[in-house]
Amino acid sequence: MEEQAFFVKVESLRKSYGSLEVLRGVSFHVKKGEYVAIRGASGSGKTTLLQILGLLDSPQEGIVEINGVSTLSLSEREKDKFRNQRIGFVFQFHELLPEFTAIENVALPALIRGLSLKEALAEAKKLLVELSLGERLSHKPFALSGGEKQRVAVARALINKPDLLLADEPSGSLDEAHKEELHQLFERVQQEYNQTMIIATHDELLASRADRILQLEAGQISHIK
Ligand SMILES: Nc1ncnc2c1ncn2[C@@H]1O[C@H](COP(=O)(O)OP(=O)(O)OP(=O)(O)O)[C@@H](O)[C@H]1O
Ligand SMILES: [Mg+2]
Repeated sequence: MEEQAFFVKVESLRKSYGSLEVLRGVSFHVKKGEYVAIRGASGSGKTTLLQILGLLDSPQEGIVEINGVSTLSLSEREKDKFRNQRIGFVFQFHELLPEFTAIENVALPALIRGLSLKEALAEAKKLLVELSLGERLSHKPFALSGGEKQRVAVARALINKPDLLLADEPSGSLDEAHKEELHQLFERVQQEYNQTMIIATHDELLASRADRILQLEAGQISHIK
């Protein structure tokens, strides 16, 4: 089958909170395997846009298509399933579950997908080893460094081999050394898994490593590198 030219299609997205128009007709396309950075001032709508792409929020108008699926018309149940199986989300502050170990945190989305505990733990271990966290499998989040926590969060986002990896200011809470480590990890993930990624960031260095930079300004994409 011929590969689709565009893997992610966003057309004329509009989102308001009351009278505040945050997204005023946002349109862009992303190819399979492409790494796109979204840059914009604080309050420009980066998180709002990622939450819509990640099916965590809905716009008032527009089209979002991910790997041929028109996501905005899915039922709530279908959205939950799509989010679990097709989307990986990395948040600014990792959002790992504190009571669970690194391997358990990573295995959880695979368990939800329907794998047995044994299979889910085996997949989580394989991925953590690949991401150089093989020595940290049974550490709980409190016993991991900030950079390690973020890498575990990336592993959790990748475990179900998502169509789309979304990351919202993923290095925002890290020091310079851990930032660099995370940036390198995103590059590896793109190269080794041909992962399609959209990352919102203030970080110029992280943005400069992307294939393309979309600038969000006054509710629209104003600049495409
Ligand atoms: N649930 C909400 N209700 C009302 N207003 C909201 C809500 N969520 C976001 N906003 C407003 O929408 C605008 C865009 O917010 P958003 O969080 O998307 O910006 P951002 O680009 O991610 O900013 P930052 O770089 O600071 O993370 C802001 O003015 C914010 O106050
Ligand atoms: Mg934000």
